[in-house]
Amino acid sequence: MPGQKLAPSILSADFARLGDEVTAVTPEADLLHVDVMDGHFVPNLTIGPPVVASLRRHTRLFLDCHLMIDNPGELLADFADAGADRCIVHVELGDPRPLFEELRARKVQVGLALSPETPFAAAAPYLTDIDLLLIMSVHPGFGGQQFLAEVLDKVRAARQVIDRDQLPVEIEIDGGVHTATAPLAASAGVDILVAGSAIFGAPDPVAAARALREAAWPTAA
Ligand code: DX5
Ligand code: ZN
Repeated sequence: MPGQKLAPSILSADFARLGDEVTAVTPEADLLHVDVMDGHFVPNLTIGPPVVASLRRHTRLFLDCHLMIDNPGELLADFADAGADRCIVHVELGDPRPLFEELRARKVQVGLALSPETPFAAAAPYLTDIDLLLIMSVHPGFGGQQFLAEVLDKVRAARQVIDRDQLPVEIEIDGGVHTATAPLAASAGVDILVAGSAIFGAPDPVAAARALREAAWPTAA
């Protein structure tokens, strides 16, 4: 049975009040999604290891670091030292196995991400090496974009293989997740919903997170 986890993405938080924003959503957060962008792999620039280190001192939440950067190999040690619990690298950069080896050696969980136009087949050879498959449902780079429902076919394909082979791999979806799209992702077999603007863009982030969870995985009344 899929994991039913919610990962607020701090990309849409107020960075000047980051600690308070994280504290506010903690009751409804199973993990915290941290978007790292370098202005090269994506046309946006966000945060790096020093902010991860600050978050690590502030929260016990699992830090799920999504690396949208050209040179992850040069920075994995810094993210590990900063306290990242998982680093997610993009398959579009080429053979990720050396990165996986470095992460394993540093006791950091391994994630692999697929941009919307990248087929599931690009990730399939690595499913036995990873802890998490991240399926992007928007083009990486910015929060607040529209959910691309066509990626749900990849979620279903991944769910089938992971269940068939009983692989210990979670499926995460990232981008455009709100109360209308969360149920689609959940029924396709996603374990972890990432949501930025739907949570931190709402007047009451914790209520918004709760609403998202209920929309995705309704509890019996
Ligand atoms: C986009 C990031 C997402 C982003 C999603 O490149 O990877 O994690 O925060 O934002 P929303 O939920 O607003 O689409
Ligand atoms: Zn992300």
